[in-house]
Amino acid sequence: MARHIRIAPSILSADFARLADEVAAVEKAGADFLHIDVMDGHFVPNLTIGPPIVAALRKVTKLPLDVHLMITNADTYIGEFAEAGADYLTVHVEACPHLHRTVQSIKEHNVKAGVTLNPATSLSTIEEILPDVDLVLIMSVNPGFGGQTFIPSCLRKTFSARAMIDRAGSRALLEVDGGVKIENAPQVLAAGADVLVAGSAIFSSRDYAGTIAALRSAGQPSSTTSSGASAHR
Ligand code: DX5
Ligand code: ZN
Repeated sequence: MARHIRIAPSILSADFARLADEVAAVEKAGADFLHIDVMDGHFVPNLTIGPPIVAALRKVTKLPLDVHLMITNADTYIGEFAEAGADYLTVHVEACPHLHRTVQSIKEHNVKAGVTLNPATSLSTIEEILPDVDLVLIMSVNPGFGGQTFIPSCLRKTFSARAMIDRAGSRALLEVDGGVKIENAPQVLAAGADVLVAGSAIFSSRDYAGTIAALRSAGQPSSTTSSGASAHR
């Protein structure tokens, strides 16, 4: 069965003054999810957007809203983001000491729950929560900014996460975020990713549809480069 690869443009690299137009453009260009980066100036050294923007975007797009919470006190805001229309809420294991409670809270709000981990955080930190989550996000840059360079070791981590998810019989989507470009997408997909987040790669390109199509077609076996990993789904 052909793999279902999803492309999630990160609006962090969009033109915020024209946000509705930018979102309409990527929706028309074939995006599957809209990735929304929420930063608090505390867990990460940057400030971005909060629930009002998510609510505003909910009104202008049918795309699932994939909300990435880079904040220390996620528990406090789950209700507001759920109310705003988030489809996925993804929290950082480094920021959630009571991760099981946080994940249950997300699900009680009828939102799909995701967990994510920074490049230096071990995959073992999500092993126990895996049966409860809908999405696992591998950060391939240190979170905080768009336009950074993909950290090569995250490829092996993605491969290990794929194996862990499959071994557990989990249906969680495996998403990779940070520095994903047309050039490295074949390796990321070969390592087993289901969802590619791409901010600067899409919004810095002239042709959103062409870039999204190129990222997606990187999953075809013919475009797989030698990465030491093989497409196995
Ligand atoms: C980084 C964010 C990413 C980022 C991706 O903290 O979580 O979603 O916007 O941007 P690119 O694709 O430019 O690395
Ligand atoms: Zn993100």
